[in-house]
Amino acid sequence: MIRSVLLGAGSYLPSHVLSNDELARRVDTSNEWIVERTGIRERHIAADGEKTSDLAIQAARLALEIAGRTAEDVDLIVVATTTPDLTFPATAARVQAALGVHQGAAFDLQAVCSGFIFALSTADNALVRGQAKTALVIGAETFSRIMDWEDRGTCVLFGDGAGAVVLEAQQEAERGVISTFLRTDGRMHDLLFTDGGPSQTQSTGKVRMVGNAVFRQAVEHISGAMLEACARAQVPLDAVDWFVPHQANQRILDGVARKLAIDPAKVVSTVALHGNTSAASVPLALDVAIRDGRVKKGDLVLMEALGGGLTWGAALVRM
Ligand code: UT7
Repeated sequence: MIRSVLLGAGSYLPSHVLSNDELARRVDTSNEWIVERTGIRERHIAADGEKTSDLAIQAARLALEIAGRTAEDVDLIVVATTTPDLTFPATAARVQAALGVHQGAAFDLQAVCSGFIFALSTADNALVRGQAKTALVIGAETFSRIMDWEDRGTCVLFGDGAGAVVLEAQQEAERGVISTFLRTDGRMHDLLFTDGGPSQTQSTGKVRMVGNAVFRQAVEHISGAMLEACARAQVPLDAVDWFVPHQANQRILDGVARKLAIDPAKVVSTVALHGNTSAASVPLALDVAIRDGRVKKGDLVLMEALGGGLTWGAALVRM
């Protein structure tokens, strides 16, 4: 059977690190509050002029190198982002040109913090149906550009970064994307949104969130998505080697692990050092865990996320 095999991952973080103490000098917060309520200690912030595409290109180059593939091989690029360089063309078009990819399709996908899971599933469908052979799936964000830096309820949470994976259609029985589960419930649109956009206000808007309501939805729906992805693959949850969740809040990671009786040592957490990088957080965390030797070839990895929409989902992958 044809499977989308994950050949390599790469990631990129802007060099500037913003600490909790520095944030506490700007808004009424403290390092203690942020660490206790979120687990976040610092986040990376893109430099002036550093765009989402710049982050995406760096991550994609590394992923291609690790995968042993070149621009000539790639015939699909999906960039999950909420912070595109421009309203249009897609950031993916700029990424495609910069990488020297001269074939196939490239487009952006918008599912906010669930974007990478949605993009992985979309690329998987294209590969399995024979519409493409080698896909770059990228999550890239400059969320710092849409923060209200005076709103302590949101500005302490987010950071910038990018992560990418190379998927290749191969005749495979074992490795590759095994199952995905995607879900949106637009009735919860107003729990997490921007207060502007091209059609409504002719501006970008800033992030607004009813944090505690999103928190409750996150624990419930992320757990449900994980069970659903496993059920679709007829794989028990305890067969999973590594859980790579969206990095919104350490308390969400802990809450989900408790609810599903998962050993916390199997949960990859980068929330302390990256904060919430929206669509970039899952591939960034995956890349960290591959590089430090935790996630190895043959391991069963379950990725999951929840974000604005609300959207949520999970993807089960044999590495
Ligand atoms: O990536 C997409 C998905 N996003 C998420 O999953 C985020 C989900 N939400 C969360 O992670 C948490 O709800 C937050 C970290 C955003 C907030 O934590 P919380 O424990 O839910 O706090 P809360 O919103 O219920 O607020 C509790 C108190 C409030 O003060 P009062 O009304 O009790 O006096 C807030 O004003 O904490 C206050 N507060 C802060 N205090 C110091 C909110 N933000 C801050 C802050 N520093 N940065």
